[in-house]
Amino acid sequence: MERLDFRSDTVTRPSPEMRRAMAEAEVGDDVLDHDPTLARLEARVAELLGVEASLWVPSGSMGNLIALMLHLERGDRFLAPAGAHVLSSELGTAAWLAGGMPEALPWEGGPGRPSPEQVTKIAGVVGPYYALRTKLLCLENTHNVAGGTVTPPDAHLALTRAARAAGLLVHLDGARIWHAAAALDCSLDALTRGVDTVQVCLSKGLGAPVGSLVCGRKEAMRAARRLRKMLGGGVRQGGVLGAAGLVALDYLPRIPEDHAKAQSLAVGLRALGFDLEMPETNIVRVRVSDAGRAIEQLQAIGVLVTPSGDAIRFVTHRDLSEVDVRDALERIAPIAAQVIAG
Ligand SMILES: Cc1ncc(COP(=O)(O)O)c(C=O)c1O
Repeated sequence: MERLDFRSDTVTRPSPEMRRAMAEAEVGDDVLDHDPTLARLEARVAELLGVEASLWVPSGSMGNLIALMLHLERGDRFLAPAGAHVLSSELGTAAWLAGGMPEALPWEGGPGRPSPEQVTKIAGVVGPYYALRTKLLCLENTHNVAGGTVTPPDAHLALTRAARAAGLLVHLDGARIWHAAAALDCSLDALTRGVDTVQVCLSKGLGAPVGSLVCGRKEAMRAARRLRKMLGGGVRQGGVLGAAGLVALDYLPRIPEDHAKAQSLAVGLRALGFDLEMPETNIVRVRVSDAGRAIEQLQAIGVLVTPSGDAIRFVTHRDLSEVDVRDALERIAPIAAQVIAG
């Protein structure tokens, strides 16, 4: 039985075209004096995002960590929406490597985001000399744990304005910013306005086997380069990986196809009785009584999913077709009642 892998949009395999580009990549030594293919990728991403410069890093977690290390000093507080990747899924490095005291903000502005009023209120609290100083707001667009939810440009701008007015720096975890822009039908730079740094991933939905970029002002990226080396992320002939990233960017116009697959899947699961919100992008969160048991039951029929809080998570991506979605629904139909009940 063929496995249908809905665990994440990171499970994609490099396409033949990507493998060819990797094999033929022009390379240099990126630790010594830059690799030409990585330099091309960094310039292209900076232009797409409307920022001055960007720096290739091996993973999204390293990109976020570098940004937090740039912005925080030991004991500084940073704010992030509850469930943010920097809070829950990066092994606490924001605290023990970047030195930040995290404060999770409830989603008062919409799924996966705080409201500007919340930011103003919490950042405005002035305490005695020994009180924490709030230094940074971290946003996440799309917000993974909320179910791939998007923050539209106006809401994004209101949040960055509130942060700036309160003297905060802003970092955006844009691992799936591509999906937000596609769903909102807006430009990528409309979603980066007002931020000091943004991190984006080429390995989530776009098909690259590895690679993220941390982006911001030129001077900040020079400091980021030192931090990347410190964290062991300096690579030599990185162009082999950068070439995959350049091909991955060609997938941007096709992201709406993955969103359409998520819609078909959600409609089908609802018709089978599952409890879910309609997806905004490529992540479908389904509430079940026992997530662990549901994952096992689905695995037995070759449908792979992951846990996500009190729910299970299906993610659609380029290596799953509409036919695969229909196939998954046909496999699930006979056991739907058991999966729902736990
Ligand atoms: C929102 C978000 N940020 C950051 C990351 C980290 O990326 P990586 O797995 O490349 O470290 C992920 C990974 O899934 C993510 O979903």
